Amino acid sequence: KRDDKFAQLTQEHVDFFKTLLGSESAVIDGTSQDLTEEMIPFNEDWMHKYRGQSKLVVKPASTEEVSKILKYCNDNMLAVVPQGGNTGLVGGSIPVFDEVIINMSRMNQIHSFDDVSGSLVLDAGVVLEAADQYVAERGYIFPLDLGAKGSCHVGGNVATNAGGLRLLRYGSLHGSVLGMEAVLPDGTIMNDLCTLRKNNTGYDLKQLFIGAEGTLGIITKLCIQCPQRSPAVNVAFLGLESYEKAQLAFREAKSQLSEILSAFELMDGLSQDLVHRVRQGKKPLDDEHPFYCLIETSGSNGEHDYEKLEKFLEDVMSNEIVSDGVVAQDATQVKSLWSWREGVPECVGHWGGVYKYDVSIPLSDMYRIVPDTEKRMREAGLLGDTDEFPVLGVIGYGHMGDANIHLNVAVRRYDKAVEKELEPWVYQWIQERQGSISAEHGLGLAKKNYIKYSRNEVFMGMMKQIKQLYDPNGIMNPYKYV
Ligand code: FAD
Ligand code: MLT
Ligand code: ZN
Repeated sequence: KRDDKFAQLTQEHVDFFKTLLGSESAVIDGTSQDLTEEMIPFNEDWMHKYRGQSKLVVKPASTEEVSKILKYCNDNMLAVVPQGGNTGLVGGSIPVFDEVIINMSRMNQIHSFDDVSGSLVLDAGVVLEAADQYVAERGYIFPLDLGAKGSCHVGGNVATNAGGLRLLRYGSLHGSVLGMEAVLPDGTIMNDLCTLRKNNTGYDLKQLFIGAEGTLGIITKLCIQCPQRSPAVNVAFLGLESYEKAQLAFREAKSQLSEILSAFELMDGLSQDLVHRVRQGKKPLDDEHPFYCLIETSGSNGEHDYEKLEKFLEDVMSNEIVSDGVVAQDATQVKSLWSWREGVPECVGHWGGVYKYDVSIPLSDMYRIVPDTEKRMREAGLLGDTDEFPVLGVIGYGHMGDANIHLNVAVRRYDKAVEKELEPWVYQWIQERQGSISAEHGLGLAKKNYIKYSRNEVFMGMMKQIKQLYDPNGIMNPYKYV
C-alpha cells in the first residue's frame, strides 16, 4: 500500500525540477503529457518482473544538483528511488508506486587517475565497462567485472556491493572503494573522497553506503583502487562428472595455480544446454557433462602461466578429477569461453522468465540446493517438458570460488503457484545450512520479507536505527528492505 505520509507529485514540484535542471533532456515529465512509453524503461526492470508507476525522472548532472533535488524532496515529503544502469536483479532501482526516479546517467565523468598508485576518481554514473576501458588504456584493471558491464554504473555497483567475476582475485568493493562522495536525504554532502589506501580516522562511514541499495543517500563520486592489469590472461573450460569432482578441481586449482588464479566459475549441464539452445554454435567441449568449470589465470608471464595451466589440466585429467578440458589459444577464444558463462543470465530467461536466488552456502553443500529445488518443483507438478508446466528447468551456476551459487528456476511464465512452492522454502533451506539469502545481488524488493532468514532481530534493529538517523523521513527508496 502506498504510504500516505508521502506527498503526491504536483505541477509545482515538476516546475521546480525543470527550473533547477534547466536542460529539456534532464527531466522526463509523465504528469502533463502522455509519456508512458518513454517512462517504461525507467519504471521496469531488466527481467520485466517489477513495474512501478513513477511519473517523473530527473537526471542531475552534478553533486550540487543531487543535493538540491534531495533537499527539496525531503522538505516536501516526496519519495525517491536512486537509479543507475537499472540492471539490478532484486527490483531495487524500480519505484514501487509514484516515487521520483533520480537517474544518475548524466553524472558520467572520469575526474582523475593516479598512474602510480592506481587510484581512480570518477562520477557514480560512469558505466562500468567505460571505467574498465579507461584504466585498461593505462595498464590497470577495474577490480570488478560482471555480465551487465555494458549498462551498469559504478555507483550502482557500489550501492549493491556487486561481487561478480573478479572477486576471488581482487576482493569485495568494501576493500576497493577508497573514497566516496554521497548526498544525504536532507541535501548534506558527505565528502570523503579520499584517495589513500590507509585511513583509520574514526568510523569508516562510507562503508555504510556500500551495499545500502540507495536507502541512506545517493552516491555521487567514488575513488576506486585499481590493481595493475595482468598482461597475460588464460582461460580453461572443464567438463566434470560430479559436483564432488568440481570441489576437488577447485582445491587443485588453488594449490597448483595459486597466485595466478583469478576466477573459478561453476556451471551445471542444464545451464550450458540452455545457453546452447538460445545461441546455437559450437560448444567449448564436444561431449556433454553434468558440470563445467571455467578457470581464469592472470599473470605477468604468458608462456609460464600457459604452461602452468596446461600442466594443471594434464594432472586433473590423469587423476580423473576432470573428464575433459580445453585451454583458450588466443584472446578471441578467451572471450568466447567466457561468453558461455556470462551468457547464462540472459539465456535462462529466454522462455518467459526466471526466479532467481543468489545465495552463499558453505561449499560442501552448495550445489545440493539445485536438485532439492528440482525435486520440489517436480513433486508439486510444476516442472515438465510441455507448455502446461510453468517450470522448464532448475539450474545452478555461479562464483564457486566465492561459495556463491545462483539458483535459477526458468519458467515459461511467472506463476504464483511456483512462487508459493519456492518461498519461503528456499530461504529456510539456506538458513538451515548457515548460508546467506543474498550473496551479492542485495535485498531490494525481492527479499524484503525474508531478511530474518539471514539476520537476527538485534541486527535488523541496528539497521533500522541507522536508517532512522540518516533518513528520518524515510524518503530514500521506500517500500524496500528497511
Ligand atoms: P541499478 O540496478 O540501477 O540499482 C541497483 C540498486 O542501487 C538500487 O537499489 C538503486 O536504488 C541503487 N543505486 C543505483 N545507483 C545509486 C547511486 N548512485 N547511489 C545510491 N544508490 C544507487 N551482480 C553481482 O553482484 N555479480 C554479478 O556477477 C552480476 N552479474 C549480472 C549480470 C547481468 C547480465 C545482470 C543484468 C545483472 C548482474 N548483476 C550482478 C546484478 C548487479 O547488481 C548489477 O548489475 C549492478 O551492480 C547494478 O548496477 P546498476 O547501475 O544497474 O544499478
Ligand atoms: C551472474 O553471476 O551471472 C550474475 O550474478 C547474474 C545472475 O545471477 O544471473
Ligand atoms: Zn553472480
